[in-house]
Amino acid sequence: MKSIFLIGFMGSGKSSVAQHLANRLNFQLKDMDSIIESEYNTKISAIFEREGEATFRNYETALLKKLPVENAIISTGGGVVEREENIVWMKEHGLVVYLETSWKEIVTRLKNDTLRPLWNQKGNDKKELYNSRLMKYSEVSLHTVRTDRRLPEDIASEIYRLVQQKY
Ligand code: S3P
Repeated sequence: MKSIFLIGFMGSGKSSVAQHLANRLNFQLKDMDSIIESEYNTKISAIFEREGEATFRNYETALLKKLPVENAIISTGGGVVEREENIVWMKEHGLVVYLETSWKEIVTRLKNDTLRPLWNQKGNDKKELYNSRLMKYSEVSLHTVRTDRRLPEDIASEIYRLVQQKY
């Protein structure tokens, strides 16, 4: 089966859902942010700070194109849709599932977050970023799964059933 790319805004639960889904399907799990952190031996926040967002996006795109396109669950970073070439790549090579989360729920979930640079940057309009990404997530995804007030295992089960029926 084609690899499943989980996309969605920061805090939509991509990493946790990916873990459950990989277990259910017995697929390998690829968490893009974790891979970047171990490949460059640096925290994402430090990459943003020292090298800037554009460099991080270069790392992200380079990694995306090296990931397995079969039998893997890929947890992407929320900004993977910022580059059109990433969108084209994911559409062509994978089954893209959008974890849709309301702004209200994101704010609740990330209330105490200190790790995500774009969430913690001062002067950054996060609501505007969220709004600007909605169209991009919908554009690339084959399926949309709502996540508000749901557990990661429950969301993973929904995706599991979906792929069992359709692919
Ligand atoms: C980003 C989201 C982060 C991480 C980086 C940039 C974004 O991943 O890739 O901080 O642009 O939305 P999560 O979506 O896992 O938080």
